[in-house]
Amino acid sequence: MSANSSRVLLFSIPFIFLVVVHAAGQTSPQSGKGAPSPAEHAAAAPSADSSKYVGSDTCKTCHEEIYNGWEKSPHWKTTLNKDAAPSKQGCEACHGPGADHVEGGGDKTKIFVFADHSRQETSARCLSCHGEGHEQAHFSESAHSSSNVGCLDCHSPHHAKEKPYLLVQSTPQLCYGCHTSAKADFAKPYHHRVNEGLLQCNDCHNPHGTAIPTQLRTMPNGDAICYKCHVDKQGPFVYEHVPVKTEGCVSCHTPHGSTNPRFLRVSLVNMLCLQCHTFPTQGPAGPAHNQSAKYQACTMCHVAIHGSNFSNVFFK
Ligand code: HEC
Ligand code: HEC
Ligand code: HEC
Ligand code: HEC
Ligand code: HEC
Ligand code: HEC
Ligand code: HEC
Ligand code: HEC
Ligand code: HEC
Ligand code: HEC
Repeated sequence: MSANSSRVLLFSIPFIFLVVVHAAGQTSPQSGKGAPSPAEHAAAAPSADSSKYVGSDTCKTCHEEIYNGWEKSPHWKTTLNKDAAPSKQGCEACHGPGADHVEGGGDKTKIFVFADHSRQETSARCLSCHGEGHEQAHFSESAHSSSNVGCLDCHSPHHAKEKPYLLVQSTPQLCYGCHTSAKADFAKPYHHRVNEGLLQCNDCHNPHGTAIPTQLRTMPNGDAICYKCHVDKQGPFVYEHVPVKTEGCVSCHTPHGSTNPRFLRVSLVNMLCLQCHTFPTQGPAGPAHNQSAKYQACTMCHVAIHGSNFSNVFFK
C-alpha cells in the first residue's frame, strides 16, 4: 500500500511540472484530437540557449540514414514553423541541443540518448509536445504509465514497423503481446470482431489513458462508450431497466468476448436474471414465476430488456 502511494507521488511530481510548464504557453484550447500542429510548439518552447542548437542539417552530415527516414516521418513537420524555437524543431526537439555532441565528434554523453533513460524521462520528453490538450493528456495517470509502460513500448520514431502512428507493431497484436487474457477473450466464440478488423481496441480504450478507470473512452456527454455504436440501447426510456443505467452494460455482458451468445456473463438467461431477481417472493402476480421450463427463457416475454417506452415489465 505505502510503496504504491509513494510511487504515485513520485510520478506525479514531473507530471505537475509538465502541466504547469505547458499550460503557461497554451493559451487557446485544443481543437480536435490529433497530434499538435507545429505552430503550437512555439508558444510552449522553454527559453533555452539557442546557440547550443545546430539544426537538423548538421546532424545529417553524420547520421544520413536516420535523417532520410525522419524526413519522411510526421516529425519532419516540426521544421515547418520557422518561428518556433530551435528546441522545438527537428532532431533536437527530441534529442536536445547538439552543439557539444558535434564538437565532441559525436560524444554520446553530450546528447539525449533515449536508450539510456527511464521510461518516465523519455515519455516526459514526448509529452512536452503531446501532453495537455491532446489524446495523451491523461498519460501520466494511466495504468500504462504507472505500470512502467512508456511511449517507446508502442512507438518508435525511427524504426516503426507500422508506419501509421509510428507503431512498433500493428494492433491488436501489439496489445496482445502484453494482454494475454484479452487475447483469449477475443478468441472466444462470441466476441466483438476486433481480430477481424471490424472494431479496434482503440474504439473503446485510449491506450494513453483517460479520466476514468480501465482507460475507457466515454461519449462526449460522459455516457458509456457502448452507446456510440449501440444507439438503440441509449433511451431515454419511459421504463428504464435500472441496472442498464446504474451498473452499466458490463453487469450482464462481457465487453470483449464470451462463450455465451450475446456476450452474456452466464450461459442461462434465467440464471443471469436471478442474480438480482428472486422468486417466488419477487415474482409477479400473473404467471407463477417458478423455474419450470416455461419461465426459464425470461427474454421470450420480457423482450425489451434494455428499457421500454410501452411496458413497465418490458413486454415490448
Ligand atoms: C520524435 C522524437 C525524435 C526525433 C525528432 C528524432 N529522434 Fe532520434 N531517436 C528518438 C528515439 C525515441 C530513439 C530511440 C530509438 C527509437 O525508438 O526509434 C532515437 C534514436 C536515435 C539514434 C540512435 C540510433 C538508432 O538508430 O536508434 C540516433 C543516432 C538518432 N536518434 C538521431 C536522430 C537524428 C539525426 C534526428 C533528426 C534527423 C533524430 N534522431 C530525430 C527520438 C527522436
Ligand atoms: C560529426 C559527426 C556527428 C554529428 C554532426 C552528429 N553526430 Fe550524433 N553521433 C556521431 C557519432 C560518431 C556517434 C556514435 C558515438 C558512439 O557510438 O559512441 C553519434 C551518436 C549519436 C547518438 C547516440 C546513438 C546511440 O548509439 O544510441 C545520438 C542520439 C545522436 N548521435 C544524435 C545526433 C543529433 C541529434 C545530431 C544533430 C544535433 C547529431 N547526432 C550530430 C556523430 C555525429
Ligand atoms: C500501449 C501502447 C501505447 C503507448 C504506451 C503509447 N501509445 Fe501512442 N498510440 C498507440 C496506438 C495503438 C495509437 C494508434 C491509435 C489509433 O489507431 O487511432 C497511438 C497513437 C498515437 C498518436 C497519434 C494519434 C493521436 O490521436 O494523437 C500520438 C501522437 C501518440 N500515440 C503519442 C504517444 C505518446 C507521446 C506516448 C507516450 C506519452 C504514447 N503515444 C504512448 C499506442 C500507444
Ligand atoms: C517538438 C514537438 C514534438 C516532440 C518532442 C515529439 N513529437 Fe510526436 N509529433 C509532433 C508533431 C508536430 C507531429 C505531427 C502532427 C501532424 O501530423 O499533424 C507528431 C506526430 C507524432 C505521432 C503521430 C504519427 C502519425 O502517423 O500520425 C506519433 C505517434 C508521435 N508523434 C509520437 C511521438 C513520440 C513517441 C515522441 C517522443 C519520443 C514524440 N512524438 C515527440 C511533435 C512532437
Ligand atoms: C509493454 C506491455 C504492454 C503493451 C504493449 C500494452 N499494454 Fe496495456 N497494460 C500493460 C500493463 C503492465 C498494464 C497494467 C496492468 C494491467 O492492468 O494489466 C496495462 C493496462 C492496460 C489497461 C487498463 C487495465 C486496467 O485494469 O486498468 C488497458 C485498457 C490496456 N492496458 C489496453 C492496452 C491496449 C489497447 C494496448 C494496445 C494498443 C495495450 N494495452 C498495450 C502493458 C501493456
Ligand atoms: C467494445 C469495447 C471494447 C473493446 C473493443 C476492447 N475493450 Fe477492453 N475493456 C472494455 C471494457 C468495458 C472493460 C472494462 C470491463 C469491466 O469493467 O468489467 C475493458 C477492460 C479491459 C482490460 C482490463 C482487464 C480486463 O480484462 O477486464 C484490458 C487489459 C483491456 N480491456 C484490454 C483490451 C485490449 C487489448 C483490446 C483490444 C484487443 C480491448 N480491450 C478491446 C471494452 C472494450
Ligand atoms: C465501435 C463500435 C462498437 C462499440 C463501441 C461497442 N460495440 Fe458492441 N458490437 C458492435 C458491432 C459492430 C457488433 C456486431 C458484431 C458482429 O456482428 O460480429 C456488436 C455486437 C455486440 C453484442 C452482441 C450482439 C449479438 O447480436 O450477438 C453485444 C452484447 C455488444 N456488442 C455489447 C457491447 C457493449 C457492452 C459495449 C460497451 C462495452 C459495446 N458493445 C461497444 C460494435 C460496437
Ligand atoms: C440486465 C442485464 C443486461 C444489461 C444491463 C444489458 N443487457 Fe444487453 N442483453 C441482455 C440480454 C439478456 C440479452 C439477450 C436478449 C435475447 O437474447 O433475447 C441482451 C442482448 C443485447 C444485444 C443483442 C441483441 C439486441 O437487442 O440488439 C446487444 C447489442 C446488447 N444487449 C447491448 C447492450 C448494451 C450496449 C448495454 C448497455 C447499454 C446492455 N446490453 C446492457 C441483458 C442486458
Ligand atoms: C444487475 C441486477 C439485475 C439483473 C441482472 C437483472 N435485473 Fe431486472 N431489475 C433490476 C432492478 C434493480 C430493477 C428495478 C426493481 C424495482 O424497481 O423494484 C429491475 C426491474 C426489472 C423488471 C421490471 C419490473 C419491476 O419490478 O420494476 C423486470 C420485468 C425485470 N427487471 C426483468 C429482468 C430480466 C428478465 C432479467 C434477465 C434478463 C433481469 N431483469 C436482470 C436488476 C436486475
Ligand atoms: C411466459 C412469459 C414470461 C416469462 C417466460 C417470464 N415472465 Fe416475468 N412476467 C411475466 C408476466 C405476465 C408478468 C406480470 C406482469 C404483471 O403482473 O403485470 C411478469 C412480471 C415479471 C417481473 C415483475 C415483478 C413484479 O412484481 O412486478 C419480473 C421482475 C419478472 N417478470 C422477471 C422474470 C424473470 C427473471 C424471468 C425468467 C426467470 C421471467 N420473468 C420470465 C411473464 C413472463
